[in-house]
Amino acid sequence: MRIGIFPSASECATYAAQMLADLVASTPTAVLGVATGSTPEPTYALLRAAHAAGELSFAECEAFALDEYVGIDADHPERYRNVLLRHLVTDDATGLRAENLHTPDGNAEDPHAAALAYDRAIAERGGVDLQILGIGADGHIGFNEPGGALVSRTHVDVLTHQTRLDNARFFDGDITKVPTHCVTQGLATIMSAKKILLIATGDAKRAAVKELCEGGVSAFWPATILQMHEDVTVLVDEAAAADLALADFYRERWEN
Ligand code: GLP
Repeated sequence: MRIGIFPSASECATYAAQMLADLVASTPTAVLGVATGSTPEPTYALLRAAHAAGELSFAECEAFALDEYVGIDADHPERYRNVLLRHLVTDDATGLRAENLHTPDGNAEDPHAAALAYDRAIAERGGVDLQILGIGADGHIGFNEPGGALVSRTHVDVLTHQTRLDNARFFDGDITKVPTHCVTQGLATIMSAKKILLIATGDAKRAAVKELCEGGVSAFWPATILQMHEDVTVLVDEAAAADLALADFYRERWEN
């Protein structure tokens, strides 16, 4: 795990956007793993700016989303497919084409079968080259909530009360409007990405970041499974890094 501690969230975004730019420069047909949540938004804004400046294009890339709500209206602005279309596709944002943005089908007649098909589709494309991740305050990645299997594949799951509370801000602050179920890539699906880039910013993430980097691997903090992946970069701002016992060492290692 490479841990980069930056003075601010915007500096995390600059570094993350550069990693993506370097990947598509060397592999224009890269398979990207894209995340929702507010954390990657500044990174997506930088990617759009780079595309507008003619410095980068995802035109030949495919992208797979981490997760989707179950039973959300197809045209709901917070449906993750619609969120990602806005950030990466609409108005030729990054060059990524709508047909190359894959998202789990939360409205399938058989969501379980759709989840398995989604997992297979990722494998058929040769797997994700670079997976972008945020992290929930309870240590979830994608929508893999505490207490799930550390070896799960894409599956239908139930959202915790905490996650629905956290996400209520996207639903007029009303938790009753937040869906109760999701389809999410499983932890083993995420772990099969070749490279992983996790961004965590702000004070609300400090406990999750502490466990992610320095806790024991446990289903109680699902993100800790990333300690078993050989190519993970974690970008945190000072607020999210506040509880890290070995922060000075991580800084030294990052700089050298
Ligand atoms: C949701 C998403 C996760 C994301 C998390 C954190 O639960 N499914 O992929 O990492 O929110 O969101 P934020 O970045 O807004 O804190």
